[in-house]
Amino acid sequence: MSRLNVNIHEKKSTINKNIYGHFSEHLGRCIYDGIFVGENSEIPNKKGMRSDIVEALKNIKIPVLRWPGGCFADEYHWKDGIGPVEHRKNMVNTHWGKVVEDNSFGTHEFMELCEQLGCEPYINGNVGSGTVQEMQEWVEYLTFDGISPMTKLREENGRKEPWKVKYWGVGNENWGCGGNMTPDYYAGVYRHFQTYLRGFGDNVLYKIACGSHQKFFEWTEKVMELAGQYMNALTLHYYTLPTNDWTASKGSATQFDNDMYYKTLSHALKMDEIITGHLQIMSKYDPEHKVGMIVDEWGTWYDVEPGTNPGYLYQQNTMRDAIVASTTLDIFNKHSDRVVMANIAQLINVLQAMILTEGEKMLLTPTYHVFDLYKNHHDATLLGHWLECGISDEDSGVPHLSSTASTKDNQVTITITNLSATESADVTIAIPDVDCTNAKGRILTGSIDSFNDFDNPDNVVIESFNDIKCKPDSLNIKLPACSVAELVVDA
Ligand code: AHR
Repeated sequence: MSRLNVNIHEKKSTINKNIYGHFSEHLGRCIYDGIFVGENSEIPNKKGMRSDIVEALKNIKIPVLRWPGGCFADEYHWKDGIGPVEHRKNMVNTHWGKVVEDNSFGTHEFMELCEQLGCEPYINGNVGSGTVQEMQEWVEYLTFDGISPMTKLREENGRKEPWKVKYWGVGNENWGCGGNMTPDYYAGVYRHFQTYLRGFGDNVLYKIACGSHQKFFEWTEKVMELAGQYMNALTLHYYTLPTNDWTASKGSATQFDNDMYYKTLSHALKMDEIITGHLQIMSKYDPEHKVGMIVDEWGTWYDVEPGTNPGYLYQQNTMRDAIVASTTLDIFNKHSDRVVMANIAQLINVLQAMILTEGEKMLLTPTYHVFDLYKNHHDATLLGHWLECGISDEDSGVPHLSSTASTKDNQVTITITNLSATESADVTIAIPDVDCTNAKGRILTGSIDSFNDFDNPDNVVIESFNDIKCKPDSLNIKLPACSVAELVVDA
């Protein structure tokens, strides 16, 4: 028997809803043939955005969307993507598949998408191959409400009112695809670029510096030392590979055994020590914790689906991915005093996607359903809680359970994951001083390699969870192997 103790009197940090953020890059079929089909498509759309996808993303209350990359961001020149579509440049997407980028999805289209989704835009500016002037003018084009050449240009392109843009990234992976810079060099470049990132009117920019990846602590150390005082947040990237080896085959998204499953989970769980390591360094230079951490790329990365373009990073998504998602979100929630945003990679048809499409068909992945199960945690208060449980697997040391408890709007929400591939879990959830007799549950479960495809889009879906015995101040539940459950009680 395992036990989860929840203390409703121990109120911790607010779980920023932006932890449930997303990322969309001009990569493979994320934008084109993904969210954006164009106004003339037979697929139902509004101003070119697929209506079924917009509805699905609104259902999970998508809070923030990062764009246009990724590595693409440091090759993107925003003026190529404005004005009459027929005059926009056709060019090569050098980083991703060397395919034609026709620039039909640009600044206006991205802002339209965010308006339809009701989410905040997070724009990642070009440092690697861009200029200070180019970035400065992009901010002016988007947000200035006065008389200026950029405002005039925006109006000529059909938009009189400025938009609101808060989140602004200064480069992406500048230690790699964004210019192969050293941390000292980037710190200087960052200080230079951010000087000219000015807010106009009440549009105050939240400046995001390019951070590290994995355990590249030297980057965090130098960038914080030299530029920490000029930023609102620093990013971190960490991808989960089953093999943990970027040079070898990463393994199939759908064909794996229990051993590979546990290896994948143990790599995903390293997110906790990676975040902790970077936060310790950040605290050294920012003891007042003014600088937030943004994990703006995370998720699983496998070999592409057989027969698909290797530059498109298209992969299937199983219950293994759902468990990676729920346990990683638990880690972010735990660190929500410092982690202010996270953006899973990526939204549609790329890496650990929410949604896959094939022509007019679309499906919701197991990972999407986890984001649905976790939406009560958005902007909720994290509650003190601790788990007493064993481990799922001796070799990897992967624990049996993972959880988050939060409160909002007179409700307590507990999400709990059974990481075991084979063993169910009997769990007592004790919530002293809360009447648990009205508990309601939802659950996502399946074999570790179960997934949704276009013939069976509802193979893995959320169901109501009834294996709950309600007591006055506790619940007894039986969680099936490989499952994620949400329990809600009025408090
Ligand atoms: O998400 C795919 C790529 O991974 C991004 O473009 C890049 O930032 C990272 O290396």
